[in-house]
Amino acid sequence: MSTPSLLILAGDGIGPEVMAEVTKIIGWYGDKRDMPFDISEDLVGGCAYDKHGTPLHDDTMAKAQEVDAVLLGAVGGPKYDDLDFSVKPERGLLRLRKEMDLFANLRPAQCFDALADFSSLKRDIVAGLDIMIVRELTSGIYFGEPRGIFTEGNERVGINTQRYTESEIDRVARAAFELARRRGNKVCSMEKANVMESGILWREVVTKVHAESYPDVQLSHMYADAGAMQLCRNPKQFDVIVTDNLFGDLLSDAAAMLTGSLGMLPSASLGAPMANGRPKALYEPVHGSAPDIAGQGKANPIACILSFAMALRYSFDQGAEADRLERAVEKVLADGARTPDLMGPEGGTPLTTAQMGDAIIEALNASL
Ligand code: IPM
Ligand code: MG
Repeated sequence: MSTPSLLILAGDGIGPEVMAEVTKIIGWYGDKRDMPFDISEDLVGGCAYDKHGTPLHDDTMAKAQEVDAVLLGAVGGPKYDDLDFSVKPERGLLRLRKEMDLFANLRPAQCFDALADFSSLKRDIVAGLDIMIVRELTSGIYFGEPRGIFTEGNERVGINTQRYTESEIDRVARAAFELARRRGNKVCSMEKANVMESGILWREVVTKVHAESYPDVQLSHMYADAGAMQLCRNPKQFDVIVTDNLFGDLLSDAAAMLTGSLGMLPSASLGAPMANGRPKALYEPVHGSAPDIAGQGKANPIACILSFAMALRYSFDQGAEADRLERAVEKVLADGARTPDLMGPEGGTPLTTAQMGDAIIEALNASL
C-alpha cells in the first residue's frame, strides 16, 4: 500500500497547540516504527473564515474527501460570535461531517486509573470505566428541514426539525452492534420514545436490526434523560451507548467529565468504506477551542493525541500501535504528568502542552 495520507485541520483556539503535539507523535511513528504518513495541512473554522470568508473552502472539502483520514483540532471562538450563522466556524465542521457522510461518531470515555480521583464522581464509581458512545452524526436536529428563524404574525419563531430515516438509524445501529461484539457485547440505545415519534422509530429500527443480525449482543433501551441520570449514578453498567446526534452531543460531554477532564476525550467519526477499503474518517478531540486558555501552553494535548491513536486503530488497522500510544499516555499520567486541567487541590507544577507531548514521546521511546 502507498504511504497513507493525512489532512491536518488544526483550526482555532487551542487546536493548533494540541495538534503540534500530535504532529510530533506522527513524526515518531515515521522515525521509530517505519510508519510514514503523507501530511498536508489546511484551514477550518474561524481561521478559514479570516482567510477565505468561509469556514471551509471548497478546495479543503475536496482534499478531505481524498485523503485516508482527516485530523481536526477545534473550531470557534468569541471573535466569531456575531458572524452570520451560515459562516460561523462550526459550519465548517458540520459540512465536513455531512459531506463525508461520517454517520458514526465514536466517543470512548475511559477513566485512566491515575485520574480516578479527579472525576467529580467518587473513585469507585469511575475507576476502570470504559464505555463507548456511538453518536449519529449526519442527521437529526442538526440537519433536519425545515429550519430557520421565521416570522409568524407579529413575532419570530425559531425552528429546527428532528428527522431520522430508517436507513440512517439502521446503519448507526449496525456500527454500534459491531463495536459491542469487540468489547463487552452490550448495547444500550437511548432516545425519547415517550415524547418523540423519531424516538419511536429509532427504538423500532434498533430492535429490528438487533433481532435480525445481532441477537448475540445484549440490547437494552433507555430514555435519554434517564440515561443521563444513569451515566452519573452508575456509569459502569454501560458498554456501548448508541444515540442520536443531539442526545449524543449532550451525553458525551457528561461522560467526558466522568473521566476527569474534557481534555482527555478523543473521537472518531466514520463513514462508509472508500475504494481502498478504509472508512471515510475524521478524528478530533471532543473538547472545543477553549479560547480562554488558547496560546498559553495550558491546553491538554491528550484528547487530540488519543484521537490519533483511534486513527491508527480504525483507519490504518494498527491496533497494536494504537495500544502502544494509549499505554504511553497511561504511563505518563501514572508517573504524575499533569497539564493544568488535571491539577488537583494538592497543587504542584503543571506541564505545558509541549512538555506533555514530550513526556508521551519519551514513554513511546521507552516502549520500544
Ligand atoms: C461536538 C461539538 C460540536 C457539535 C460543535 C462544535 C458544532 O459540540 O463535536 O460535540 O455540536 O457537534
Ligand atoms: Mg459537543
